[in-house]
Amino acid sequence: MISPTDNPILIVDDSPTNSTVLLGMLQQSGFKVIVVNSGEAALEKVEMILPSLILLDIMLPNMDGFEICRHLKSVEVTRDIPVIFMTALSQTEDKVKGFNLGAVDYITKPLQKEEILARVNVHLNLRNLNKQLAEKTTELTIALDQLQKSQIQLIQNEKMSTLGQLVAGIAHEINNPIGAISANSIYASTYVNELVDHLRLYQQKATEDEISNHAQEIELDFLIEDLSNILTTMREGAMRVKDISESFRIFSRHDNEDKVLFDIHEGLESTLLIIQHRLKAYDKQPKIEVLKDYGKLPLITCFPGPLNQVFMNLLVNAVDALRDYHHKYLNSPKKPQIKIKTALNEEGTHAVIHIQDNAMGIPDEIQEKIFGYAFTTKPVGKGTGLGLAIARQIIFEKHGGSLEVNSTAGEGAEFIIHLPL
Ligand SMILES: Nc1ncnc2c1ncn2[C@@H]1O[C@H](COP(=O)(O)OP(=O)(O)OP(=O)(O)O)[C@@H](O)[C@H]1O
Ligand SMILES: [Mg+2]
Repeated sequence: MISPTDNPILIVDDSPTNSTVLLGMLQQSGFKVIVVNSGEAALEKVEMILPSLILLDIMLPNMDGFEICRHLKSVEVTRDIPVIFMTALSQTEDKVKGFNLGAVDYITKPLQKEEILARVNVHLNLRNLNKQLAEKTTELTIALDQLQKSQIQLIQNEKMSTLGQLVAGIAHEINNPIGAISANSIYASTYVNELVDHLRLYQQKATEDEISNHAQEIELDFLIEDLSNILTTMREGAMRVKDISESFRIFSRHDNEDKVLFDIHEGLESTLLIIQHRLKAYDKQPKIEVLKDYGKLPLITCFPGPLNQVFMNLLVNAVDALRDYHHKYLNSPKKPQIKIKTALNEEGTHAVIHIQDNAMGIPDEIQEKIFGYAFTTKPVGKGTGLGLAIARQIIFEKHGGSLEVNSTAGEGAEFIIHLPL
């Protein structure tokens, strides 16, 4: 309900009879009313009073009602004030023109008390609703803006966390072979120096005694065998680094523009390599075993980079869940396991990828929520809650597939991806 006292009404009419009638009936209903008898007076007063409604006569000397209305609509502060024209019953053209100029309604002379009050109330109510709507719209726009900003921030965080995993993975995986290469290279160079010294003895035509003494000194037989072993180890290390680098290349493929043919198993393998360091025994917990059951799959037309990110998000979630579970039940007889299974569906239309763990599972009541933006049960700073939301978006929107969860609380969780061929 509107309050009459908070909604002043301006009457613009040069006929004292009309304005007196109007004034009387509106004041009786409690409205604050201001009466002016010309367009000039109306425009002079309106910005000061800022009425909630204007009752405007059309036939006025000098400036008629239409012109006044045009003025009101051209000024920011008065534009939204509803205008009701007052016209004689027969003047249809005037009514149309009035509406075209932005009037909200008209009333006909001779004036009918009930009708006027009803229309005034309707338009005051409408105006107040409009005002509230405008305020709410502003509030919502601000809220939406903030939401988008925090969403961008969240996505940025998620990217950083993927990047963090990646860098940690690279560092860890490359550490061992590089360590082996660099440690062995010291022995290799010592051995080579000793061998060169030994060869010099031949060059200098040393005596057999000298040569055999030196051979003994440098343990020549052992040296030759060990040098060969060392070189093999170094070569293997170098090849390992090459494989790792190839895996990272596969993992972070940036063909985001067009879909390409891709071997899903290659994607899974390169992702496993990146999270390898998190599968090892850790903090009194046993190592996480990965059981693979790869079926026969054709190459799939997809975006490899984003798809690998999905595998990573699902595998990291499984690792997190297993670590959590075994941290809580330190001596649990359950062996931490992740099963990865791939197959074609029965109709042969989709590749189906299962990623299953045997941690604590997901309670029924949050099973649909986990795909929502920013839903996480992990401590602040640990999870952004975007992993599954992004995964589902990549599978659903980019690939027209589906990502579902299947879990019995207490027994583990299984995520199932369906990718159309
Ligand atoms: N394998 C799983 N076992 C048990 N709970 C899971 C598993 N995977 C996901 N969840 C639950 O779903 C929630 C949402 O997962 P999601 O990957 O979207 O975010 P997050 O892992 O919490 O954070 P982020 O992925 O950004 O680091 C998790 O917080 C967890 O409660
Ligand atoms: Mg996650």
